Amino acid sequence: MNSLVRNVSIDREVSSDDFRNAMRRLTGGVSVITAGRGRDISGMTVTSVSSLSVDPPALIVSINREASSWPLVKRYGFFGVSILTSEQTDIAQRFTGKGGLKGADRFAGAEWVTRVSGVPLLTGALAAIDCEVEHIVERHSHAIVIGRVLDVTVSPRTAALAYWQGRYVVIEQDEDAVKLAEVSVPTRHLSRKI
Ligand SMILES: Cc1cc2nc3c(=O)[nH]c(=O)nc-3n(C[C@H](O)[C@H](O)[C@H](O)COP(=O)(O)O)c2cc1C
Repeated sequence: MNSLVRNVSIDREVSSDDFRNAMRRLTGGVSVITAGRGRDISGMTVTSVSSLSVDPPALIVSINREASSWPLVKRYGFFGVSILTSEQTDIAQRFTGKGGLKGADRFAGAEWVTRVSGVPLLTGALAAIDCEVEHIVERHSHAIVIGRVLDVTVSPRTAALAYWQGRYVVIEQDEDAVKLAEVSVPTRHLSRKI
């Protein structure tokens, strides 16, 4: 293992509430992580997926070690990432586990496929990514999981689901392009003759 762990000593502890409050301001793309085989499956809603490298294709996700999906990710060594569209808020809610649904029951009511890794991937997701676990860093309450990308499918849909300030928000390309154009300073105002 080539990771470096330092014992950080801090004079003034930042409270969890202050940190949570700061992180509420960070917009996160919403995905569902899935793991397991057959009926031994579970999944969870996450915003912590991000790209690690493109060559080779690899991503990172941060998973709470108390979550029911965690032992499945660890045991089987594979996981799926289904990046949600703006129309999949109900799936996002279902996979937070707040309605009391567990394991395979969370998958009911939506269409799933298995590809290279064998884990369920959501049909109609903005993108579905099959991963093999390459490296795990267990730290504090969570585990950082590095996944090597085995397979990717993308949908022609463009409207994405994000989470910001404690609520789901829709990111729609066309509308956003209009908004951007409204707030952008025309380039001619920025150019200067030298
Ligand atoms: C918008 C949103 C994003 C979340 N992101 C993460 C995440 O990145 N990592 C994580 O461990 N839990 C995350 N959670 C919490 C999990 O979805 C939740 O704890 C988990 O599904 C419940 O686990 P259970 O399977 O044990 O019921 C998030 C929840 C929400 C609502």
